[in-house]
Amino acid sequence: MTKIDVLLGLQWGDEGKGKIVDVLTPNYDVIARFQGGPNAGHTLEFNGTKHVLHIIPSGIFHQEKINLIGNGVLIEPRIFRSEIEALEEKGVDATRNLLISKKAHLILPTHRMMDAANEQAKGNMKIGSTLKGIGPAYTDKIARNGLRVGDLMADDFRECYLVLKEQHVRQAVTLGFDINNFRIDGMTLEEYETLWMESLDTLKKFRFVNSEYFINQCLKEDMKVLAEGAQAMMLDIDFGTYPFVTSSNTITAGVCTGLGVAPSAIGRVMGITKAYCTRVGAGPFPTELFDATGRLLCEQGHEYGATTGRPRRCGWIDLPALRYACMINGVTDLFVTKPDVMNNFDTVNMCTSYNINGRDTDEIPFEYNSVHIDPVLTTFEGWKQSLEGITEYDKLPVALKEYLAAIEKQTGVRIAAVSISPDRKDVLFKS
Ligand code: GDP
Ligand code: IMO
Ligand code: MG
Repeated sequence: MTKIDVLLGLQWGDEGKGKIVDVLTPNYDVIARFQGGPNAGHTLEFNGTKHVLHIIPSGIFHQEKINLIGNGVLIEPRIFRSEIEALEEKGVDATRNLLISKKAHLILPTHRMMDAANEQAKGNMKIGSTLKGIGPAYTDKIARNGLRVGDLMADDFRECYLVLKEQHVRQAVTLGFDINNFRIDGMTLEEYETLWMESLDTLKKFRFVNSEYFINQCLKEDMKVLAEGAQAMMLDIDFGTYPFVTSSNTITAGVCTGLGVAPSAIGRVMGITKAYCTRVGAGPFPTELFDATGRLLCEQGHEYGATTGRPRRCGWIDLPALRYACMINGVTDLFVTKPDVMNNFDTVNMCTSYNINGRDTDEIPFEYNSVHIDPVLTTFEGWKQSLEGITEYDKLPVALKEYLAAIEKQTGVRIAAVSISPDRKDVLFKS
C-alpha cells in the first residue's frame, strides 16, 4: 500500500499551491482536493495563458490524470459550472477525468446571503470573507443540516432545499439583513437561484463516487495520490488566527477527514511558502509593511486576490509562523515561491522571532489578535539580479541561496524546490 502525499499552504494562502500542484501532477495518478471550496483561487500558467481554478483540483489540465473533489470540499454549483465552461473553452473536457465525492456538501445561494449577513452583523470585526458562502455551508454541515452532492439524486431534494433556504431567510431577517436589496453577481436571490438550479444539470454530468473507497483502493493498488490543500495553515479553523480564519481544517489532519484516509497513510507533506508573506482579508499579520516596500511587494508580486481581486496585504517572511506551520503539518519538504518579486531589493528582511511586551518569543501566542507584536528582523543582502533564464537551483545567485539556507536552518526542513516565475516551467528542484 502506498501513501498519500500532501501539498498545502504554510502562510495565509496564495502561496502558489495551484502552480506547484500542476508542476507535480506528472508524478501522480490522482489529484484530490480535501477541503475549502470556491473561496480558493489557484492560478496556473503555461504556454502564455493563465488559468484560475476555484473548486476543481489543479491537476485538471493533465487529462490523463484523475482529479477528485473530496468529501471535505464545498461545491457551489453555479461557480462549478462557470469553471467547467472556462475549461471547455480551453479544450479541456473535465467530464473525462473529474470525480466528485457524494459526501461533498453544497453551497446554496442563501449560504452566500448568510455570509454577507454575518459579515454585516460583525461590523468592524468582520473577517473579510470571500462571500462565497463557506462559513454558513460548513456551519450547516456541522449542525447536521447540510445538503450533499449525493442528495441531488433523492426525490425529495427540492423539499430539503426549500426547508434549508427558509431557515436561512429566517436567520437573515433576525440579523436585520435587507434580503430584497441583496445581490449575488448583480442578481437578486431569485434570479441567482434560477441559475443555480440550472447549474445542477452540469454537476450531474459528473461521476459521483464514494470517494473514501476510491482513494483507499488507489492507495492499495500503489497508485500515486496527491492531496491538494486550499487556504493555508494560518487560516485553519483550529490553529489559525481565530476568528480571522476560514471554516475548515486546512492542515494535514484535514486530509484524513476530507478524503477518508488514515493518519498512517500520510506520506510526504509538501509545504509552500512565499519568499515573503501576504494576507488578504482581516486579522493579525505581524510582519505587514505599510510603507513603500509593502506597496512594492504588492505591485511587483501582482498581489491581488485570484478570487475577489482585492489587494493583498504584504510583509516580510514570518519564521515563527512558518515553524508553527511545519510543526502542525509535519512538513517534510519546503517549496519557496516568488523570490523573483524581490529581485531589485537592496536588502531583504526575515522575521526570526516576535517581541511581545519586551520579551522575545518563538511561539504564536493565544492573544495573537490583541497583543502588539514587534517582529525581530534579520537583514540579508539582496541578490539584485533577474532570475530569468536560470534553470538550475545551484545557479541561483549566492545571496538568494544564503537567504534560502536561512529558511531551511530556521525551520529545520529541507527546501525541495524554488519557483521563480508564474510559469509552469520555472520551478528549480534542489538536487
Ligand atoms: P494559490 O492560491 O496558493 O494557488 O496561489 P494564487 O494563485 O492565489 O497566487 C499565487 C500567484 O503568484 C499567482 O498569480 C501565480 O501565478 C503567481 N506565482 C506563483 N509562483 C510564482 C513565482 O515563483 N513567481 C512569481 N512572480 N509569481 C508566481
Ligand atoms: P487559496 O486557496 C487567501 C481568507 C479570506 C478571509 C478568510 C475567510 O487561494 O490560498 P472565507 O471566504 O473562507 O470565509 O474567508 O480567509 N481566504 C483566503 N485568503 N487565499 C485563499 O485561498 C483564501 N480563502 C479564504 O480572505 O480573510
Ligand atoms: Mg489563491
